[in-house]
Amino acid sequence: MVSPRKSRDPQTLRPATRLVHGASLRSQFEETSEALFLTQGYLYDTMEIAESRFKGTEPGFIYSRFSNPTVTMFEKRMALLEGAEAARATASGMAAVTAALMGQVRAGDHVVAAKACFGSCLYVVEDLLPRFGVSSTLVEGADLGAWAQAMRPNTKTAFLESPTNPTLEVIDIAGVAEIVHKAGATLVVDNVFASPMLQRPLQLGADCVVYSATKHIDGQGRTLGGVILASEAFITAHIHNFLRQTGPSLSPFNAWVMLKSLETLPVRVAAQMRSAEKIADYLADHQSVVRVLYPGRADHPQAALVKRQMSGGGTLVTFEVKGGKAAAFKMANALSIIGISNNLGDAKSLLTHPATTTHQRLKPEARAHLGIGEGMVRLSVGLEDVDDLIEDLAQALDAPGAQARHAAE
Ligand SMILES: Cc1ncc(COP(=O)(O)O)c(C=O)c1O
Repeated sequence: MVSPRKSRDPQTLRPATRLVHGASLRSQFEETSEALFLTQGYLYDTMEIAESRFKGTEPGFIYSRFSNPTVTMFEKRMALLEGAEAARATASGMAAVTAALMGQVRAGDHVVAAKACFGSCLYVVEDLLPRFGVSSTLVEGADLGAWAQAMRPNTKTAFLESPTNPTLEVIDIAGVAEIVHKAGATLVVDNVFASPMLQRPLQLGADCVVYSATKHIDGQGRTLGGVILASEAFITAHIHNFLRQTGPSLSPFNAWVMLKSLETLPVRVAAQMRSAEKIADYLADHQSVVRVLYPGRADHPQAALVKRQMSGGGTLVTFEVKGGKAAAFKMANALSIIGISNNLGDAKSLLTHPATTTHQRLKPEARAHLGIGEGMVRLSVGLEDVDDLIEDLAQALDAPGAQARHAAE
């Protein structure tokens, strides 16, 4: 008789293999591709089984606001990738950030965050938490002394994003974690820009990692989602009940799209990063470009720190064109392949002008303080042939006058 095939413990597999085979919950049909369980609820064979599921004495699904097989597969595969004990999926990246912060605090607590965070994250820290009696302090993320100074006896948690948007400044995650832990607080890191392939905040000392899975994890611009990863104890103490009772759940459909996307995440991020490196080098030599900010280049202001905490420069390149806003607009309007969009981490290359879009609400002095110039654009490099992207940038940077977009079509 042939004995059943052995299956390997996913923990012993390399990341790319974990992302293809890890955390599959195969049904009785033995499908190769993971199933999409579009169901709100579950049937219990007996009243006794229902009782024990609710008591938690028997494993099983109860209600899709907080437990669904497809969502569970996505969460477990993310945890395998990140090296986290536990993960919870959310409806969007902002639902993940909000839960990771609100789940930890109560009135009278204090939160410290880096100034250069995504605008909606700043809203949570600066506007939302104070409404519930939680005070906050914003610091220069790269200044470890500022983090130490901001800590108070009632500081519960700290929050940062690295690399930052749009200047791709890198914050010393291990350094901040040490300061925060000394003060008895926790550190939450928004790892969206690096992606889980290039930076592992938990290994650097963070207590919790959050993602907008909308970005590299979906990677093809389709679905919104978020993930929170941490130790089992952190998730149990701060996250599980908050999500279960308040309900910002990831739909099983979106979880399925993202679960399948994880299978291709390593090849996508590697290819996008190879192109980003080439594009950054091309732009650095271009006469119409004042400066290029790319964490993978030796001239990045924190190149040594990048080497210590990231395994690559990422898929985003920020650069400043000569001639300010007018020149940036002229160049962007002349692009024929690269799209104009504030989104990132997509198979399609996307370019945005932060001063007039993502950061337009800031006062000009605040933008200047963050290093966001009028001629600055942020490019999210996609999966197109890099030579086509470079040709597109070349013709747009050399465009003699304002041209109609997609003139070649
Ligand atoms: C760094 C960062 N964090 C969080 C978010 C929020 O993610 P979502 O749009 O999925 O809510 C974004 C979205 O652009 C982001 O760029």
